Amino acid sequence: MKILIKGLLICVSLALLAASGTYLYFLVILPPDLPIAELKLDRTPERVARGEYLATAVFGCVYCHSERDWELFGGPIKPGGLGKGGERFDESVGFPGLIVSTNITPYHLGDWSDGELYRAIVSGLHKDGYAFFPVMPFDVYLYLETEDVYSIMAYLRTLEPIAADHPPRQLSNFMQAIGNSRVKPAEPWVVDQDDPVARGEYLSIIAGCRFCHTPADERRQGIPEMRFGGGLGFPWQDKTVYSANISADPDTGIGNWTVEDFIARFKAYENQRIPVSEVGYNTQMAWTEYAQLTESDLAAIYAYIMSQPAVRNEVTLVR
Ligand code: HEC
Ligand code: HEC
Repeated sequence: MKILIKGLLICVSLALLAASGTYLYFLVILPPDLPIAELKLDRTPERVARGEYLATAVFGCVYCHSERDWELFGGPIKPGGLGKGGERFDESVGFPGLIVSTNITPYHLGDWSDGELYRAIVSGLHKDGYAFFPVMPFDVYLYLETEDVYSIMAYLRTLEPIAADHPPRQLSNFMQAIGNSRVKPAEPWVVDQDDPVARGEYLSIIAGCRFCHTPADERRQGIPEMRFGGGLGFPWQDKTVYSANISADPDTGIGNWTVEDFIARFKAYENQRIPVSEVGYNTQMAWTEYAQLTESDLAAIYAYIMSQPAVRNEVTLVR
């Protein structure tokens, strides 16, 4: 008995030591001081058009950096506020602290150089040098193809300037250190556009499909063997809404959907504004924005998901 207790005490003190060690380690992490590139982008019509598609339909920059109407299914953007920021991430969505998505119209970004803006998007550093919290998904944007970032930047510069200011971020040192620890130089992919599986992999990682549709471990990291298996929870009122299993499993996932079914599921939300009361719950998935994905990009995402291992995981969407 004595030995057992002693063993237990040692375990507990080791655990405490490890925990405080991790804590100290996090406190001293500073973000790397990444250089700001000398950039002067041409705002060509092709870039602006491609950037608009990427920022609104595919990568969610605009829906996250606008106010969303949570009375409607999927929380579409409130009209008239494109890019003005103002979505709050706080305790009500399970976030310990407060971050408000920033204004990305020229009202706020007008005095950021192209180099500063590029570094902010792909590496998560503010022009003043501090790291963002990865609610801003810079930890996947580091893989963005360089031309895609340039297109998004060209488009952001054309947004209507909207005078909207937001409360400053409130993060504990620990949360700030998490952001600091994720800052990395860009590692842009070069994607073979003619290979649907490769394009689908790129799109589904950067558009957040894989993040949201993969359950996380206690460190909030996606579990690789459960990719696309669904079950990541999002607080909604006094319940939780779980992401669906979109893996190739025919019983619990979407393995028996054809590519046409998959495309139709998205297109059904095109220009739709569906009151939450008609559905009975709301979802973090921005269906109205994703409905604007081209059929070719949706088919590529489908092809990639189907090329991945099927994950058997029964998900109850709302509980
Ligand atoms: C899921 C929500 C989300 C998505 C998607 C998102 N952002 Fe952000 N972004 C944020 C939040 C929140 C911040 C503030 C982070 C902080 O202060 O820690 C931010 C910060 C920024 C900033 C810095 C502005 C400033 O003044 O600090 C820029 C620029 C930016 N985002 C651009 C983009 C672009 C471009 C995309 C798409 C490629 C994008 N964001 C996608 C949530 C998002
Ligand atoms: C912010 C989190 C989030 C992101 C990003 C996201 N989803 Fe979802 N998705 C959900 C949740 C939650 C549900 C379940 C509730 C709902 O929307 O019906 C869902 C449902 C689905 C469904 C319906 C499955 C069924 O059985 O009816 C499909 C298909 C889907 N998502 C595919 C995708 C794809 C493809 C992407 C990327 C382009 C994506 N999702 C991005 C959270 C997300």
